[in-house]
Amino acid sequence: MKKLSVLFLAASLVLSLGSLAWGQGVLKVATEAGFMPFEYVDAATGELMGFDMDLIRAIGQVLGLEVQIDNIAWDGLIPALLNGNYDALIAGITITPERQAAVDFSEPYFESVLTVVVKDGAEVAGLDDLAGKIAAVQINTTGDFAASDLQDAGELKGVSRYDTVSDAMQAVLIGAADVVIIDLPVAKAYLDANPQAPLHHVGPVADNEFYGIAVNKNNKALLEQINAALQQLKDSGTYEEIFQKWFGAN
Ligand code: ARG
Repeated sequence: MKKLSVLFLAASLVLSLGSLAWGQGVLKVATEAGFMPFEYVDAATGELMGFDMDLIRAIGQVLGLEVQIDNIAWDGLIPALLNGNYDALIAGITITPERQAAVDFSEPYFESVLTVVVKDGAEVAGLDDLAGKIAAVQINTTGDFAASDLQDAGELKGVSRYDTVSDAMQAVLIGAADVVIIDLPVAKAYLDANPQAPLHHVGPVADNEFYGIAVNKNNKALLEQINAALQQLKDSGTYEEIFQKWFGAN
């Protein structure tokens, strides 16, 4: 009996911790803002900008929650959510079965795909042309998973894993790696922002993937609210406005 109530107490403590912040009118969100155009730091103002940032702020508005966003390391996002440091993650995170074992995802909010970024003049048109090559990736991204699979199959010589997208790009620029495997919209934005870089991308190279907002598995109520807010933003046209703002001119 005593054991049972201790267990009960522990369980309800975990539950209330999971919903503490957003229960008080604040949605604590983490991102990794090295992923333009989804999340990046505006050089002039230091402000967090991007499609994801606009979307999560709009979700907060629908839910009447103040959105506080921290910019932390990519590889630390899911651990920080599991620790209860944040209510939600938005960072261009692809919904995968492995991640779904650890966290819940909202309904998909963006359809994406991988590409390969190569030096101009290199004869690479896709994932089939990488035998003998080194791929640079952001660690523990879908680009990393694709590269690791290719390496296991003997279709890629090696994988160099970096903490940030910009370090992975730099690796190719300095010749430490041959290609970057990365989300196509991010490759496009990087190349647009760095027109002097002697790099190009080769278009979609894999199956489509879907980004979701991650929420702790013990916080189904928040998950439902986020999904309802997403639906409302779609119905009201606000989602489309945000989409056009970041992707309309392409
Ligand atoms: N979509 C890819 C993934 O989920 C890459 C996401 C990287 N996001 C970031 N903010 N650096 O693995």
